[in-house]
Amino acid sequence: MPEAAALPPFLRLDRAGTCVVLDLRQGMAKPIHLGSPLPADEDLESLGDAARRGRHENQAEQASGPSLLPQMGVEVTPAVICLRGGAECFTRFLLVQASAAGHECRLRFRDEIAAIEVECRWRVSAAGLVVADARLTNLGTDPLVVVRLASLALPVPSRFVAVTRHAGRWAAEMHAETVAWTRGVQVARSQGGRPGFGGGQWVMLSGQGTTESNGAVLGAHLAWSGDHELVLERDADDERRLLMAARLDIGEAVLAAGESFQSPAALFHVGEGGRAALRQAFHRHALAEVLPEVATRSPRKVHLNTWEALYFRHTLADLRELAEAAAQLGVERFVLDDGWFKGRRDDTTSLGDWTVDSTVFPEGLAPLIRHVRSLGMDFGLWVEPEMLSPDSDLAREHPEWCLSVEGQVRPTQRHQWVLDLTQPEAAEHVFRCLEALLRNNEIAYLKWDHNRELAPRAGRARAQALAHLALLDRLRAQYPQLEIETCASGGGRVDFGTLARCSRFWASDNNDPIERLVINEGWFQFLPPRVAGNHVGPSPNPITGRQSPMLFRARVAMFGHMGVEADPRRMTEAERSILAAHIACYRQWRECLHAGDWWLPEGLESGMHGWMVVHGQRALALLAQTRFASSHEVAPVRFPGRRATARYRVRLPEPWPEPASRYLALPANWREGRVLSGTALARVGLALPLAHPDTAWLIEFEELP
Ligand code: GLA
Repeated sequence: MPEAAALPPFLRLDRAGTCVVLDLRQGMAKPIHLGSPLPADEDLESLGDAARRGRHENQAEQASGPSLLPQMGVEVTPAVICLRGGAECFTRFLLVQASAAGHECRLRFRDEIAAIEVECRWRVSAAGLVVADARLTNLGTDPLVVVRLASLALPVPSRFVAVTRHAGRWAAEMHAETVAWTRGVQVARSQGGRPGFGGGQWVMLSGQGTTESNGAVLGAHLAWSGDHELVLERDADDERRLLMAARLDIGEAVLAAGESFQSPAALFHVGEGGRAALRQAFHRHALAEVLPEVATRSPRKVHLNTWEALYFRHTLADLRELAEAAAQLGVERFVLDDGWFKGRRDDTTSLGDWTVDSTVFPEGLAPLIRHVRSLGMDFGLWVEPEMLSPDSDLAREHPEWCLSVEGQVRPTQRHQWVLDLTQPEAAEHVFRCLEALLRNNEIAYLKWDHNRELAPRAGRARAQALAHLALLDRLRAQYPQLEIETCASGGGRVDFGTLARCSRFWASDNNDPIERLVINEGWFQFLPPRVAGNHVGPSPNPITGRQSPMLFRARVAMFGHMGVEADPRRMTEAERSILAAHIACYRQWRECLHAGDWWLPEGLESGMHGWMVVHGQRALALLAQTRFASSHEVAPVRFPGRRATARYRVRLPEPWPEPASRYLALPANWREGRVLSGTALARVGLALPLAHPDTAWLIEFEELP
């Protein structure tokens, strides 16, 4: 075994504007720099000395200091917790090996007495994200129970003073909450077998006074589709740590002699470029390394989803008419949502019986699909493969396939049970059902839903999450062009693990544009809007009851992967024409919207939201006011991120929102466009009428030669 003395004194990784330096001189791995690049010839010895503090006589003589592997009994939250022979292992890891090659480093820690080895791996991706994971090996002869293995245990520099986490519930996902990073321990955990609506696996840390375009930001994500644990700790000595781990139930990870346990990856980006730089790095990483090619190469087709148009009221005649109305709007994909399979007339029955309902579709789905395709659209279908209804043929034939604990009641949620995919026969059955649907029908896309939590978890939550990923892999291997949307009653299962197999996520069941502006802002901080399903729903909205003008709904839906989830036949002629015009506008702008850099305008007052997407010489912005402003003189909105000395023609595409446009000064000038420098846009901004609720302006920017 190599001695600590043989370790290199430092490891340094540099890529895409990210620089990481680890000081190994004290026998652990202490980050002494995380962030923007340092000069190539920076003297690491001096850097390490400058970061080192003397020991106060009250502190432990052998204090290890911050490390990538926080230790039991030293830090409040250790990275590793294990049991052997029913008792907790009191570990004391030593760094025994460290190496760097290319953009990756590996650090091997070992506790000879506890007989455990942990290898931490950090890699800087082409987008500048650090991708971290860990592997734990049982070096002993007795079985070892892993209770926790952190994917990332990061000592965080003290310049990070604010924490942005998310709160959420069904139809209200990813509401960002920013608080001061106070002393103590903050913990977020999910327990339904999926990350959940609150998105506890996404976190952002900021420095004092950080803005959209400037200042320290660190954002992190755990790429795991099961339950997670997020710990933020600031101790009495002001050491700050961020820990991310897949949550394990005791008994889920038991290692025999020589066996290893691999954590999922956690990713972080750290820099000084404000929230925009973090957002753009995450988007670039997701597009380059996470999402399947089918999601990143093809234009994001405009959807019509039947759910809020028809719910379970499927008839062939209605669906044909709906498809015709959709095609007339410029829709490119028709998605048949819940209600198409055997006996499914409401949400109380039939999950698991994945054959077409012959009373609604006597000749199967083929005639409808033919019709949809003849109208120039492709066809998508809703499924919920991991579930079964107690009232289904499947549950009657195989009650033992329900995830349950022997002898206990089987609680239902939304009238359904979970299919235990850890049983190979159950997984095989559901694969065969999906495969038969895909083989017999021209299906371009599946909306893959998951509408309840795992309860009881039955000690199988992790295995169930892995079985879900394996099922997706198997299907994708056979149908690589198939696009899959991840949905869990909206955004309950959105993570890089699932997104590595999916082309879209359903951001929320809530299509109310005012709610969506908030929800999408949470998602877009980390995820490319290219894969964020964003639909025009009915008015009044079925969830919030709020009425919104079509112009407002359509403009909000353009900024993401646009779709329609309403019945065009029930819209007025004027609404249909506004919607069709915005679908055309989305199709014209989608290359920019989906390949561009996303910025948040600055100076937005309470109730206002906005985006600016910059791609090459073009940019498109949305400014949306959701409330009645407290003053008539709403402050000008500023647009960071343009080249300071370049000149931009700025136009307001029509139609203009009412009544706001009545208060637009010099309308003719805005129609024709005004020319402003990048500096003027960022510092002076635009004074638009934004005092009325439901006002959505589009703003076009064109860089002049
Ligand atoms: C979930 C989804 C919805 C819809 C329904 C159908 O709630 O999030 O979009 O598909 O199921 O039952």
